[in-house]
Amino acid sequence: MARVFSGIQPSGELHIGNYLGAVQNWVRLQEQHDCLFCVVDLHAITQPYEPAQLAQRTRQMASSLLAAGLDPAKCIVFVQSHVPEHTELSWLFTTVTPLGELERQTQYKDKAQRQESVLAGLLNYPVLQTADVLLYKATLVPVGEDQIQHLELMREIARRWNGRFGEGFFPEPQPQLTTAKRVLGLDGQAKMSKSLGNTIGLLDPPDAVWEKLRPAATDPARVTRRDPGDPDKCNIYTIHKGFSPPDTLGTVAHNCRTAGWGCLDCKRVLADNMIAALAPVRERAADLAARPAEVDRQLADGAARARAIARDTLGEARRRMGLLPAASAG
Ligand code: TYM
Repeated sequence: MARVFSGIQPSGELHIGNYLGAVQNWVRLQEQHDCLFCVVDLHAITQPYEPAQLAQRTRQMASSLLAAGLDPAKCIVFVQSHVPEHTELSWLFTTVTPLGELERQTQYKDKAQRQESVLAGLLNYPVLQTADVLLYKATLVPVGEDQIQHLELMREIARRWNGRFGEGFFPEPQPQLTTAKRVLGLDGQAKMSKSLGNTIGLLDPPDAVWEKLRPAATDPARVTRRDPGDPDKCNIYTIHKGFSPPDTLGTVAHNCRTAGWGCLDCKRVLADNMIAALAPVRERAADLAARPAEVDRQLADGAARARAIARDTLGEARRRMGLLPAASAG
């Protein structure tokens, strides 16, 4: 059984880009695999953030994941900073990571451009991400397309570490993408992203979903109502694939190509399907919001289960790297 690991930053609400690109897949994978899913708070602090809000956002992100269908009886859900082995393994990995590889990461370059002074945490971000995955010797990483380059680096770090300290010790993890591997924002310009404000939240109420969908960008070739469109060039069709059943998808594609429907007709169908699909998620989220102590308890349990695995891997990695084991005191 393949071990699966993935993570999400608590830097904003869970949006449908995260959901269709990654989380929907997580919910499926937990049925057949040994899965760990992590709210990566230590990654979130590599960008400007508000300390007074971080804990609450972390709990909220975890609650949203549980509401979206992650089931602690089927997978391990936890918070990254609750398992300190992540940071220790990350440090060990910095000693085999070439600086040039880190500087080449496009996510780093994009984020660094937006900051006045670039901090080392931002540069080392993918090393911590590597530790997240390899601490559990996970082989499968369900993510969106924007994480592919980080996964390549992860395999490079695994190869270098193995080459120096123990052939075959760490696996080389592979990404797993969905058909919605890159959901665009509602403006149709860039990737849907918490930091760009072009999102639909998974927990948005029905009227907000429609308000946001109505003006959203579609196939740019459809200038007037009579122009036929190409569903494969339309972000709304990508979102349809995540929420509408196959026969509806056929109807949508046909009516787009023949201009049988206008874009607004197509969006109305999508809004109805989305609102219906997400109603139980919203309901579960409201229920969890009223029971924060229960969420914290589930996260503590998840961290304890994750830590049991993490300790073993880290202990062995330390030993192979030649670090002196601490003798027990007294
Ligand atoms: P984050 O928090 O930006 O996003 C979480 C997941 O959602 C996917 N995603 C998208 N997929 C399709 N279309 C979009 N518009 C879109 N926006 C986001 C992301 O690809 C991701 O899978 N570095 C990671 C978090 C992380 C991680 C890890 C992931 C830390 N450690 C270990 C995998 C394994 C990140 O920033 O994700």
